[in-house]
Amino acid sequence: MTPEPRTSNPNLEHERGTRNPEPGTLRLSDIPTPALVVDRAALDRNIARMAAFFATGSCRLRPHFKAHKTPEIARRQLAAGSCSGLTCATVGEAEIAAGIGNDILLANEIVTPEKCARVAVLAKRVRLTTAIDSLAGLDALSRAARDAGSNIGVLVDLNVGQGRCGVEPGEAALALAWQAAQSGGITLRGVMGYEGHLQPIRDRGERESRTRQAMQGLVNTANQLRDAGLPCEMVSAGGTGTYDISGRIDGITEIQAGSYALMDTDYSSVGVPFEPAFWVLGTVVSRPTSDRCVADCGHKSTTKDHGVPAVRGIAGATVTSLNDEHATIVLPQGSTIAIGDRVELLPSHVDPTINLHDVFYVVEGQAVVDVWPIAARGYIEHRTRTSLEEPA
Ligand SMILES: Cc1ncc(COP(=O)(O)O)c(C=O)c1O
Repeated sequence: MTPEPRTSNPNLEHERGTRNPEPGTLRLSDIPTPALVVDRAALDRNIARMAAFFATGSCRLRPHFKAHKTPEIARRQLAAGSCSGLTCATVGEAEIAAGIGNDILLANEIVTPEKCARVAVLAKRVRLTTAIDSLAGLDALSRAARDAGSNIGVLVDLNVGQGRCGVEPGEAALALAWQAAQSGGITLRGVMGYEGHLQPIRDRGERESRTRQAMQGLVNTANQLRDAGLPCEMVSAGGTGTYDISGRIDGITEIQAGSYALMDTDYSSVGVPFEPAFWVLGTVVSRPTSDRCVADCGHKSTTKDHGVPAVRGIAGATVTSLNDEHATIVLPQGSTIAIGDRVELLPSHVDPTINLHDVFYVVEGQAVVDVWPIAARGYIEHRTRTSLEEPA
């Protein structure tokens, strides 16, 4: 077998996943760009602030792993306390999260035999709960659990106004809950309803009143289940925009927030009390005019589905466009930024930006103190199908 080439700079060996930097040896200026950077102190402050909110009251936090897909961040969220477990969006995330926490909510509909089989296997290792909104989905999970000799917890997913997945609150939900309660290999644990359409509402009063209204349908349905003698220990909802509204409504037992730990410019303009803790680092590759520079961090390194990123640390600089590998930035008058200088972009959307990267460079000031793998990025089930990753 041909040996892999070694990097000439031993400080960059972590790029190949061989080791993390020795403390104090790697600086931000050594990192190849584009790269994802997290400010560890800011991250920890966000995590602590959210944990402190849920330390009072009866509702618990179940941080959404899909936001960052990074085991080290999930460990820090659980260690901060006030958590009932972790939330995931995909089976692949849940498989990785199961190595960090022993109580996983897969807050999504899992319907194919192959994925249901993986969920059934996982349910032997951890307390696993997933969402259903159809008899077909319920039957697929029940069959997989019976085949595996395991037991899968389910929440009936309600459409609380987002118009995505979910059955309507009330009778339809009750009917599916009855079916779940009678299905082999299934334990009915309650209901969930994600008010995703309300997270970005800028006006606090409107966000609050509409969230209270939407959550009423969820709480009422939970009560209907209990009145019918069905189990309903979990009533799950919420995100970063509504955690302090839904998280204080009687009857809601846990909140699935994710973005709060790292924050993006979209959520910053909603006015939630968390600080930007990550950014995309780029290098200026062109300085065509006095008022413009171009950096190497385009939309293959920071998404623009919620708008172009903001420029961190240069007052008056604005990203005017993102192409695959280029960010075009209009500069304030007199800017001396030069080719080779670094720029920092604050993304508008946490989840899809992080999904583009392999690692977080963890910084304290200018020092890189750690490198965290974004272990659950992409769709992990495809990795083992490439010859590149076959065992030697
Ligand atoms: C089902 C579900 N729950 C919770 C969240 C909350 O995430 P965030 O706090 O990042 O808004 C999301 C985000 O898309 C979601 O899809």
